Amino acid sequence: MKQTFERVADLSDLPEGGLLGVEVDGRPLVLANVAGIVHALDGICTHMDAGLAEGSLFEECLMCPVHGGEFDVRTGEAITSPAVEPLGTHEVRVEAGGIFVAKPG
Ligand code: FES
Repeated sequence: MKQTFERVADLSDLPEGGLLGVEVDGRPLVLANVAGIVHALDGICTHMDAGLAEGSLFEECLMCPVHGGEFDVRTGEAITSPAVEPLGTHEVRVEAGGIFVAKPG
């Protein structure tokens, strides 16, 4: 089946080093801009449901705002306790000044 993409934000809304919360099909995601590369991950921490768009980004490392668990935005891997379970990652395209994320299914 052909993958469909949804425009979720303008690229100008997400400066380098920034995080942005968006929704795709009602699911919260977080976008992270690492040196011009945009990554999209599940927006809710796998530890205890914190919104990761309120976290902080240092290079490829996304830190949860509640307990400081950290995730690699390239893979979703949990790299620092108390985060253990990985985040889902989502395919991203940047075209014509827009950020597009693959829709689930
Ligand atoms: S809620 Fe994110 S590390 Fe606890």
